[in-house]
Amino acid sequence: MKKAGIILDRDYKVGKIDPRIYGSFIEHLGRAVYGGIYEPGHPEADELGFRRDVMKLVKELGVPVVRYPGGNFVSGFNWEDSVGDRSSRPKRLDLAWFTTETNEVGLHEFVSWAQKAGSQVMYAINLGTRGPESARDIVEYANHPSGSKFSDMRIANGAKDPFGIKLWCLGNEMDGPWQMGQKSAAEYGHVANEASKMMKWVDPTIETVACGSSSSEMPTFGKWEYQMLEQCYDSVDYVSLHRYYGNPTGDTPGFLARSMDMDEFISTVVSICDAVKGTRHSKKTINLSFDEWNVWYHSKEQDREIHRRDRWGRALPLLEDIYNFEDALLAGSILITLLRHADRVKIACLAQLVNVIAPIMTRNGGGAWAQTIYYPFMHASRYCRGTSLVTLTDSPVYDCSDYENVPLIDATATLSDDGDVTLLCVNRDMKEDFELTVDLRSFGQMRMEEHIMMHHDDVKAVNTEEDPRNVYPAAGPGGKIDEGKAVIRIPALSWNVIRFKKI
Ligand code: AHR
Repeated sequence: MKKAGIILDRDYKVGKIDPRIYGSFIEHLGRAVYGGIYEPGHPEADELGFRRDVMKLVKELGVPVVRYPGGNFVSGFNWEDSVGDRSSRPKRLDLAWFTTETNEVGLHEFVSWAQKAGSQVMYAINLGTRGPESARDIVEYANHPSGSKFSDMRIANGAKDPFGIKLWCLGNEMDGPWQMGQKSAAEYGHVANEASKMMKWVDPTIETVACGSSSSEMPTFGKWEYQMLEQCYDSVDYVSLHRYYGNPTGDTPGFLARSMDMDEFISTVVSICDAVKGTRHSKKTINLSFDEWNVWYHSKEQDREIHRRDRWGRALPLLEDIYNFEDALLAGSILITLLRHADRVKIACLAQLVNVIAPIMTRNGGGAWAQTIYYPFMHASRYCRGTSLVTLTDSPVYDCSDYENVPLIDATATLSDDGDVTLLCVNRDMKEDFELTVDLRSFGQMRMEEHIMMHHDDVKAVNTEEDPRNVYPAAGPGGKIDEGKAVIRIPALSWNVIRFKKI
């Protein structure tokens, strides 16, 4: 058995974990809304048409914030279409996904859904085909108490109390040629500055997220962040990061190392934010919102086929990636990476939540079930609140296609406000178990409460409606604690959650 060691110290902290790093995302895309969270007539539908079975899975997942309504969709969206009498809301062609949006679910309905789910709404405004004026208007509509055109319109539409939406995205992926209303960094930075300024004049309690690059692979990555922040540094609070990974060649060791790319991406954006801070002699620090992350590649060919057959369809089954076991391992390493950067990453959204590159799947008229990636997310959201700890890890390493020195044991630890420690750990070794020693001496007397472990012999194994627990967490082999040092067995190729309780 291979060996690895971890040293933790209760005083060596990365920082407080903002619960919003366990956010997710619902876009008006595919079957995320229609056939996902909403399906009137379904046996599980509530009085508003929202599926109770989906809601149950969302609540168990633990998602404190949900980004909405896009995504690429938002760059052609008129928010006014989504409020008021539902029977007279317009049907619109959505040029992001070449489908038809009926606006049957809009702002009021989504806010009700999010309230039931226990989630805050992170609302994205359209800075593609629209600008600061409509941004100002939607903030007035959503957050102003009463006595103005848009707040009174909200009241007339049935919501006496303001929605109190605190977090706003200033557009989406505005650097991308696929985006409606793509802009240069300077153009976007200027518009984002004006929009954010006016939105905050309407409601000074809100926070705004400026669009960073749509991926670290964009040719303008780096320059985009720098140039757009030069325009809007003083009026925004966060910069967004988006990143999706895939394994089209079946290279599992290379795929599992992709969280190293994410780590570098975060560090680079932090450096750029701080460089702009330096040039401005500013006291303000811009933090990060990693508001789109996931694995996305399984459905690409299927989507091309759907679009060949059906352009402008409603609620087409787009981006329906079926996740396998190795995807869950990478999702685990991504969560570990986000926690390692908890001092600067304050918001993150697993993209997305239901049906569209999602941890939760549904069948129209049928069941709802959890995909493999659901479990690492649920564990992190449930057990890793409080403080992120510096996790000194001594692990054997491997080299792969894109990276050298990839640690076989990828781990991070958190300390709850009650003094309990949770260790998250991925064993990237395809064949060998590890004996992992965790030095917990600085925490006083601890006992090992639980070892949750997820493994499957087949990296391509998936969950389905018929077999929803094919890839499913179980009790791990655990271990013992002796004189403040825990020794735990970590099976080959596995996701692990080890919970230590203070005695
Ligand atoms: O999440 C799917 C899409 O990915 C989003 O609409 C867009 O922002 C990104 O390119």
